[in-house]
Amino acid sequence: MKIKLLASTNLSVTKEKILVFPFFSGETISSGNKELDKKISLFSDLYLKLDSGEFRIAFYDQGSFLFLNIGDRKNWKVKEFLLAIRKSVRIIKDNKILNASIFLDSLLPQEDIFSQIVENILLAEYDFSKYKKESGFTINNIEIITSRLLEAQKGIKRGTVIGESLNFARDLSNTPGGEMTPSLLATVAVKELSKLKNLRTEVFNLKKIKELKMGGILGVSQGSAEEPKMILVEYLGKKKDKKIDLAFIGKGLTFDSGGLNIKTGDSMLGMHMDMSGGASVLAAIRAIALLNLPINIMCFIPAVENMSSGNSYRPGDLLRAYNGKIIEVKNTDAEGRIILADALSFAVKKYKPELIIDVATLTGASVIALGNRAIAMFTNKDEMESDFRKIGDKSGDIVWPLPCWDEYQEEIASSFGDVANTGSNKGVGGAILAAMFLKNFIDGHPWIHLDIATTMTSIENQGMAKGATGTGVRYLIQFAQEFEEIKKGLK
Ligand code: BES
Ligand code: MG
Ligand code: ZN
Repeated sequence: MKIKLLASTNLSVTKEKILVFPFFSGETISSGNKELDKKISLFSDLYLKLDSGEFRIAFYDQGSFLFLNIGDRKNWKVKEFLLAIRKSVRIIKDNKILNASIFLDSLLPQEDIFSQIVENILLAEYDFSKYKKESGFTINNIEIITSRLLEAQKGIKRGTVIGESLNFARDLSNTPGGEMTPSLLATVAVKELSKLKNLRTEVFNLKKIKELKMGGILGVSQGSAEEPKMILVEYLGKKKDKKIDLAFIGKGLTFDSGGLNIKTGDSMLGMHMDMSGGASVLAAIRAIALLNLPINIMCFIPAVENMSSGNSYRPGDLLRAYNGKIIEVKNTDAEGRIILADALSFAVKKYKPELIIDVATLTGASVIALGNRAIAMFTNKDEMESDFRKIGDKSGDIVWPLPCWDEYQEEIASSFGDVANTGSNKGVGGAILAAMFLKNFIDGHPWIHLDIATTMTSIENQGMAKGATGTGVRYLIQFAQEFEEIKKGLK
């Protein structure tokens, strides 16, 4: 699909094209074109009756209209506006219409919205259909009609990079576990990223992981026939300086069976998406490189499969992580934090980044706490929590804070090692305890942990296809973009 820009004055109308009019409750629609406005006015009774969120397709002699009520003008909110855009695209797609023009001029009080419009068009157009006999319908062209041409031009460029990166993450996540093993994930990462400017990739194999004594990764992977990998991506976007500003760490669990604490019932279904954190990191660094952001970032993705077999690691095992701390395994299904322990401590020791962000589908408990509409955010920089939240609001990846105060630490005290991988107080505060566990491996560095189990898969009525959402990608990109400003607060 192509997204194009069209000045209101150059509008053409054909049978093959649907004209999309999102409009505010009670307001009559104007296209800026007299002829067209006459035709639209023939339908004013019909569209003015639509309630907020309702839509109608109407046919006229030269083509068709899509009217979509997006609520009251005085309640305009970015989030709801972008949802309306996504819904419009889904309607066009469901009706198998090849070309569309969306009229936006009267709807845009906010600066800088074009990139997000384009991201959301691409998000909504996406389907994971490449395994179907008949691949899904795709829209050919969407034109954005506006008079703010320069602004829109820039927005289309940025939005296309971000939108395509989001869908790259979704493709990685949606691919079944057997076809997205640690080795295959590493292969795609190298293939897709190493061709980009200022990017360098490297993959640690089993031998190297053993040499480095990453006992967490070794423990979790030992029950699987698949060799673990550690994927590293270095992006140096600053001209002279080589110092690493940010480290991105993504959980790359390519399939989580739970291990010997095997998952029961339906809870194993969807666990091929347990590498979504890794996918987000790869997609974000792709976008950051294509946008040429002036920042240096190191990415680490421990890629591992958690299986149950005669070789599996066991409850009661004591694993030595990269930083020397001994992890007591109380439950083999709390594996994400164990592989992240090695990645975090390696990143901190070798690169000393100014700030670390890890992204992981870490706990079902985060979903219990927050539902499916916000990412759970944890940080050891309490005083910057609201700055970090604002980045989420701007990016479209909403993050919401949960505490990780040191007093929680006693709940993951270990009897035989230094730290246990699950809590002693059964079942309570699971998302927090997972974050507390990670906190043992960052050596006091500024750190943000995003538990994206909440938003890993799409929910109904959000104008997105079933399956992976690409959650976290936009947060990381926005963070990189604003890092110079954030850095001042870290001192
Ligand atoms: N990958 C899961 C968490 C998860 C659950 C992600 C649902 C996405 C959707 C993680 O490895 C896990 O199994 N966590 C356990 C931890 C428990 C054993 C302490 C959980 O959440 O049940
Ligand atoms: Mg698990
Ligand atoms: Zn997992």
